[in-house]
Amino acid sequence: MAEIEAHESKLYSEFAPLYDKIFGKIFYSRLERVIEELDIPPGAEVLEVGAGTGTSFPAYPSHCEVTGIDLAPDMLSRAQRKIRDNGWTHLKVLEMNALDLEFPDDTFDYVMAFHVVTVVPDPVRMIAEAQRVCKPGGNIVIVNHFTSDFPLLGSLTEALDPLTRWLGWRTNVRLKPFIETTSLAVEKVYKLSKASLYTVVLGRKDHNGFHLAREL
Ligand SMILES: C[S@@+](CC[C@H](N)C(=O)[O-])C[C@H]1O[C@@H](n2cnc3c(N)ncnc32)[C@H](O)[C@@H]1O
Repeated sequence: MAEIEAHESKLYSEFAPLYDKIFGKIFYSRLERVIEELDIPPGAEVLEVGAGTGTSFPAYPSHCEVTGIDLAPDMLSRAQRKIRDNGWTHLKVLEMNALDLEFPDDTFDYVMAFHVVTVVPDPVRMIAEAQRVCKPGGNIVIVNHFTSDFPLLGSLTEALDPLTRWLGWRTNVRLKPFIETTSLAVEKVYKLSKASLYTVVLGRKDHNGFHLAREL
């Protein structure tokens, strides 16, 4: 098996039509709950990095303005079709690199990163960019799977990393060291259910600038 980076997987190019079929429904119910619990206020500016086919899009309230960015044209064209078919005027998508965002500092009230931390080649840089474009006091919301801290399970999932990279995601990112490498001020870390493989991380860009993660 050729060694590739997760974001180079065919899942995000020629197999993009399969993405919605396989992951769309499973991912949507999780994202719907997270977005609902955020209670996004009217007029809020929202950025979703690595928005892909727009799995989360139906969950955003129409009173906020949402920009989805992604590097993969095949994923974005599916997102664009959903926007058009549903007549969503509060949503737009742009082709852009999450590691090098083309927005000025302090632009968005919310920056979302759903199922993308383990896909981009440099997730620490992605979070730095998310923080840069987030307004002081704004929210950074991450939903992702992280490698288990249970030694046996953790080692087993890490051993699967070459295979999952080929499929389109990494399985070697552990939550605590990852967050500590970023300068994200973490307010809450939780799971939607006890058995869930996915973790929700709510971070905030504070008014005094960034500071190191609090105890996770
Ligand atoms: C697993 S999908 C998640 C899509 C969507 N957020 C969801 O929850 O269904 C990961 C997405 O990240 C995108 N991606 C990978 N590297 C990226 C980068 N550097 N900049 C922007 N998007 C990127 C991929 O093209 C893909 O659409």
